[in-house]
Amino acid sequence: MTRYSRITGTGSYLPPRRLTNADLAAELASQGVETSDEWIVERTGIRARHFAAADVSSSDLGVEAAKHALEAAGLQASDIDLIIVATSTPDMVFPSAACILQNKLGIAGCAAFDVQAVCSGFVYALTVADAMIKTGSANKALVIGAEVFSRILDFSDRTTCVLFGDGAGAVVLEASETPGILASDLHADGKHVGILCVPGHVSGGKVLGQPLLKMDGQAVFKLAVGVLESAARATLAKANLTDADIDWLIPHQANIRIMQSTAKKLKMPLEKLIVTVDQHGNTSAASIPLALDTAVRSGKIKKGDTLMLEGVGGGFTWGAVLLNY
Ligand code: UT7
Repeated sequence: MTRYSRITGTGSYLPPRRLTNADLAAELASQGVETSDEWIVERTGIRARHFAAADVSSSDLGVEAAKHALEAAGLQASDIDLIIVATSTPDMVFPSAACILQNKLGIAGCAAFDVQAVCSGFVYALTVADAMIKTGSANKALVIGAEVFSRILDFSDRTTCVLFGDGAGAVVLEASETPGILASDLHADGKHVGILCVPGHVSGGKVLGQPLLKMDGQAVFKLAVGVLESAARATLAKANLTDADIDWLIPHQANIRIMQSTAKKLKMPLEKLIVTVDQHGNTSAASIPLALDTAVRSGKIKKGDTLMLEGVGGGFTWGAVLLNY
C-alpha cells in the first residue's frame, strides 16, 4: 500500500503586542525615522504586525502554535515522533529551536531539528517531513514555522523595519493511506545571498559583522514574482493538475502586490487568495502556517480542498507544496 502524508491539525500563535502602522510610525518618528500608514498600506498591504516581548523566543511562540495544532489533530504531544522547526531567528546558535521546543512540550526521544530556508522555510520543512513519513522514518510529525524577526530589524532603516512581524504557525502531518501532500518543488540560488541577509556571525565570543536584516526590496520583488509562478506550475505538473484545480492559494505573506500578481498569473480569482499579511506583516517562515491556520479556523478552507502553499525568500530560496487538505 502506498504511504502518504496528510495534515490532520493546524495551529498558530501571535504574541499579544500588536502595532498598527500608525503605532509603529509614531514610535519611529520619536527616533527621527519618517514613515506613514499610507505608504506602508499602498506599497505592501500591511496594516499591523505583532512583536514579541524581549524575553519571548521563537520556541515560546512555536510551542503555543504546536499545542493548538495537536489539539486540532486530537493528539497528545507524546504521540509525535518528529519535530521540524523552520526558523531564521532561533533561540540560540545551538541547540536547535526544535530541541528546545520539544522539551517545552514535555516530550523526549523523537527526532527534532531546525530547517533554515528563511521565508521558504515552512515549505522546505513540510517537504522534508512528507519525505520522512513516506519512507517510514516518521508517522506523526509536528512541522512549525516560528520567528521573532523584530530582533533582527534595523529600526533606523524604514525600507525594512515596517515590513516584518513575529509569530508562529504549526501543522500536524500524519501518515495516511490517502494522499494529502500531492507534490512539492524546492529551489535555491545562492548567488543572490546579498539581496536579503543578516550578515553577522558569532566569533571569539563576539558578534562580528552586521546582525540586522538587509534587503534590496526591488531585487527581491522582481525575483519573487517570477519564481512563485514557476514553482506553482512545476508542482502542478508533478501532480498532473492545472491552475483550475487549486481551491486556495497561500503564498508567503510579504507583499500583497506580489501575492496578487502570482494569483493573476495562475488565473486565479483574488477571492481564492488567502491574505493575512495585512494583519501579521511578513513573519518569514511562520507566514504560511499562520495564514493556513487562520483560513482553516475562519471556515474558509474545508476538508478536501486543494491548497497551493508557496514560499520565497533569502538564500535566494523558493518552493511550493500542493496538497489535499
Ligand atoms: O520575505 C521575503 C520576501 N520579501 C519580499 O517579498 C519583499 C519584496 N519587496 C517589496 O515588497 C518592496 O520592494 C518594498 C515594499 C520593500 C518596497 O516597495 P517599493 O515599491 O519597491 O518601494 P521603493 O523601494 O522603490 O521605494 C520608493 C520610495 C523611496 O523614496 P524615493 O527614493 O522614491 O524618494 C523610498 O525611500 O519610498 C521610500 N520609502 C518609504 N517611505 C515611507 C521606503 N520605505 C519607506 C517607508 N515609509 N517605510
